Amino acid sequence: MAESTKSATLTIGEKSIELPMFSPTSGPDVIDIRKLYNQAGVFTYDPGFTSTASCDSTITFIDGDEGILTHRGYPIGELAEKSHYLEVCYLLLYGELPAPKELEDFEDLVTNHTMIHEQMINFFRGFRRDAHPMAVMVGVVGAMSAFYHDSTDINDEFQREVASIRLIAKMPTIAAMAFKYTIGQPFVYPRNDLDYASNFLRMCFAVPAEEYVVDPILSRAMDRIFTLHADHEQNASTSTVRLASSSGANPFACIAAGIACLWGPAHGGANQACLEMLKEIGTPDRIPEFIARAKDKDDPFRLMGFGHRVYKNFDPRATVMKQSADEVLELMGVDNNPILQVAKELEKQALEDPYFADKKLFPNVDFYSGIILEAMGFPTSMFTPIFALARTVGWISQWKEQLNDPQLKIGRPRQLYLGEDIRSYVDIEKR
Ligand code: SDX
Repeated sequence: MAESTKSATLTIGEKSIELPMFSPTSGPDVIDIRKLYNQAGVFTYDPGFTSTASCDSTITFIDGDEGILTHRGYPIGELAEKSHYLEVCYLLLYGELPAPKELEDFEDLVTNHTMIHEQMINFFRGFRRDAHPMAVMVGVVGAMSAFYHDSTDINDEFQREVASIRLIAKMPTIAAMAFKYTIGQPFVYPRNDLDYASNFLRMCFAVPAEEYVVDPILSRAMDRIFTLHADHEQNASTSTVRLASSSGANPFACIAAGIACLWGPAHGGANQACLEMLKEIGTPDRIPEFIARAKDKDDPFRLMGFGHRVYKNFDPRATVMKQSADEVLELMGVDNNPILQVAKELEKQALEDPYFADKKLFPNVDFYSGIILEAMGFPTSMFTPIFALARTVGWISQWKEQLNDPQLKIGRPRQLYLGEDIRSYVDIEKR
């Protein structure tokens, strides 16, 4: 924890109390309110945690005004261009870029843990074929705690490490199996001679009837999409993982909770909702109608893939994703993709509209990702599972960091109670 070098004075009526403040490496100072209730008998009130730091962390930093995202100090744009997903996983997990031998050993470790216990296949068969793949992932990942008992003790550092590698290694296999199950095709086993992204593409798109050759363009695009989704500070699903873990829950249960939270359309489900919105718009001439709906207070419709709790400037991931969309679609010969044209025109018109400019609403990571994923052959229902696959390393890194925090306490917020005052029971005869 940083040393407190200044304090804030809170005056309530005749009483004033001093609250210590901490200064970060980057970003706003924080006021330490841990002793507030004991000293002043009041709670703070912050639904949605718009002004609350829930922890200290050294993993990811976001400057929403400047559109900056760094992982262990390295800007996301440089990592997306020069690194690759498993190297970013190493960086997030261990804090430094790996030396060549460290990277080789880490990649070998992950590669050799990509298969799942054969009996877990029975879980998939319990779902209806039309189950959403996210429902399958929540169920199967939670069920991992029923199979991998030797890596559920969170007090054992070695078991925490084994669980971390198992989750990162097996998530692509589980996501691909969830996809295959819903389209009625046989499961495809991982291959140890393929890199992480190529393995995932092959497990999703290979069929027994013919050889599947991984397209290096798609594999590079897939790997970059994984990197862009790897971690993002204390977002809703990461906070869910941290809160679940604060009770001592096992790692598989915590990650399943994170997957469940990510599913919502306000969070990771936005990539699916955004592409479905772009398809509903269909042609550029219908864009004004949808922008008007997004601005209408009486209409619950929002532009999916737009806006962000932290970014009040461009989401740097959206910038990279937009470049990648142009590259991938051109290389695949679908650069005149009508949905991409609608997306670009929608972005242009929205950013020129005072409503979006005044509220600082910009495209986020979900605005362009679906266009690439659909061009790669994924159905919209697989967009959020891919986000969950990629974010697993972020959840795990934050989970490990919290377990190593000597200040770790169970998360238990209070409330502003506005219900009935205390009253006596009324017998039914008198009601
Ligand atoms: C992700 O937190 C993270 O880091 C998440 C994430 C990650 O990597 O983990 O970045 C991934 O979840 C990205 C966000 C994906 N979600 C969407 O694209 C869904 C559409 N976006 C919105 O629902 C919204 O922008 C949120 C949920 C993303 C952010 O909501 P906030 O911060 O709670 O802001 P808000 O709802 O209070 O909106 C502020 C104002 C409101 O208007 P007023 O009440 O002030 O008049 O902006 C408006 C909102 O109505 N607004 C929008 C809008 N987003 C906000 N209006 C139209 N379209 C939108 N998309």
